[in-house]
Amino acid sequence: MRRKIVAGNWKMNNDLSETEALLNDLIAQVPNTDVNVMVAPTYVNLFQAFNVLKEHNIEVIAQNMHQEAKGAYTGEISANMLKSVGINTAILGHSERRAYFGETDELLAKKADAALANDIQVVFCFGEELEDRKAGNHFSVVESQLKNALFHLDASAWKNIILAYEPVWAIGTGETASPEQAQEMHAFIRKTISEKFGSEIADELSILYGGSVKPANAAEIFAKEDVDGGLIGGASLKAADFVAIINAF
Ligand code: 13P
Repeated sequence: MRRKIVAGNWKMNNDLSETEALLNDLIAQVPNTDVNVMVAPTYVNLFQAFNVLKEHNIEVIAQNMHQEAKGAYTGEISANMLKSVGINTAILGHSERRAYFGETDELLAKKADAALANDIQVVFCFGEELEDRKAGNHFSVVESQLKNALFHLDASAWKNIILAYEPVWAIGTGETASPEQAQEMHAFIRKTISEKFGSEIADELSILYGGSVKPANAAEIFAKEDVDGGLIGGASLKAADFVAIINAF
């Protein structure tokens, strides 16, 4: 079902006590809402975050996941390990994973398969770099990221996928895509999915925008027809800002 979603990607921020403090602030401040609220703390705090939020309407999600079920992959975390601490959703393909950890579309196809096979919902991130946009290649880059990582999936898989369009030039830079640029790309993404998997799946799909979303710009971005919410980095680290973004819906 197409849902409104606001997800906070905390990246490598917040130790255990900071995590508990921010979660308690969110419990106190997140309103009763039809928006699905998610937060992604670092791996080591997922279990505690799950326990703190168990009775609340905020889902704890992972920032990443390994594609193999188990074995000699030092430092990695499997789907089953996430499930065992109550996590049912994972972000995959964040541009920082692609840029700093060499994650490719081909690897992400495997990660998506592993997540979906284990009933882990995927928040799949993708988006063009500044050079792509300057060269006018942003649509073709985005299309190939989707095709390479997700077009092999069965139609039935799409009920467990959320897309997050995050233009790399807008992440952590303070420079946001304009609401028109976001809408234009989201409409293109929905059309691309529709052409491959049909309009019913495309219409039901939630497509989030990420990249310098703040309380001041969230409402005009979320107002766009094909924008179903946001994946929030920096502004998700302050309860008041994150809550203001949720309220912007
Ligand atoms: P910022 O909101 O800090 O630009 O980060 C966006 C992001 O990368 C979310 O995954």
